[in-house]
Amino acid sequence: MGGDLLTAEALAAGYGPVPVLHNVDLRVPTGTIAAVIGANGAGKTTLLRALSGMLRPTAGRIVFDGRDLRGTPVEQLVRRGVAHVPEGRGVIGELTVAENLRLGALWRRDRAAAASALDEVYQLFEPLARRRRHLGHQLSGGERQMLALGRALVGRPRLLLLDEPSLGLAPRVVAQTMALLRQLCDDTGLTVLLVEQNVRSALAVADQGIVMSLGRVVLAAPAARLRDDAELRHAYLGF
Ligand SMILES: Nc1ncnc2c1ncn2[C@@H]1O[C@H](COP(=O)(O)OP(=O)(O)OP(=O)(O)O)[C@@H](O)[C@H]1O
Ligand SMILES: [Mg+2]
Repeated sequence: MGGDLLTAEALAAGYGPVPVLHNVDLRVPTGTIAAVIGANGAGKTTLLRALSGMLRPTAGRIVFDGRDLRGTPVEQLVRRGVAHVPEGRGVIGELTVAENLRLGALWRRDRAAAASALDEVYQLFEPLARRRRHLGHQLSGGERQMLALGRALVGRPRLLLLDEPSLGLAPRVVAQTMALLRQLCDDTGLTVLLVEQNVRSALAVADQGIVMSLGRVVLAAPAARLRDDAELRHAYLGF
């Protein structure tokens, strides 16, 4: 414990010739939640893609658990404990809840550990346990979100990259999901990078707020400061 699980230094990335991220620095200490905040098009999703290996950075460094991740294939990142839950969730509609969850543990050799991780997810998300034989496309938006998160968790990640997990969820479910993340960080040392449009609920649970604008990090500050300092909030968050 202690120290940073993830750091990025002078990271740049984009799509083809179009640069999106410029000179991004960030540090996420082990066992903490960092909320990435910013307007539409600020580059939040692009940042997560670069960190999870889906998008190759054009410059800079990403260090995870003391190791430079440059050029590491996505598969290996997953084995090392990096889980990415993309925007839009990626639940497979034609598979059952149980089958979707098992996909999250597919790469694990230790069958017994995978089975117990699966049990834990069913305990965390009661509705998934009740619907384990339902197909993905039969689930509500909230249940699909639980399934996407649950699938990431059965792989027992050390770093969870979450892109807008609260999109389309009822406020009560958002609050439950945030509380669950907090609990996992505090109890198991999980580290989370959370992209959220819902700034208030993200800052309520996060340790750190990282504000992005036009592909750059314009502010990284303790979440408590962003919550309590009205001037800072006006300047960077517009409320
Ligand atoms: N596949 C792509 N090809 C080309 N440009 C893209 C692609 N995806 C995103 N962009 C551009 O990159 C910039 C950043 O987009 P990104 O999706 O990272 O922003 P975001 O902060 O996640 O926005 P939102 O809040 O709407 O999800 C935008 O200008 C967008 O148009
Ligand atoms: Mg996005």
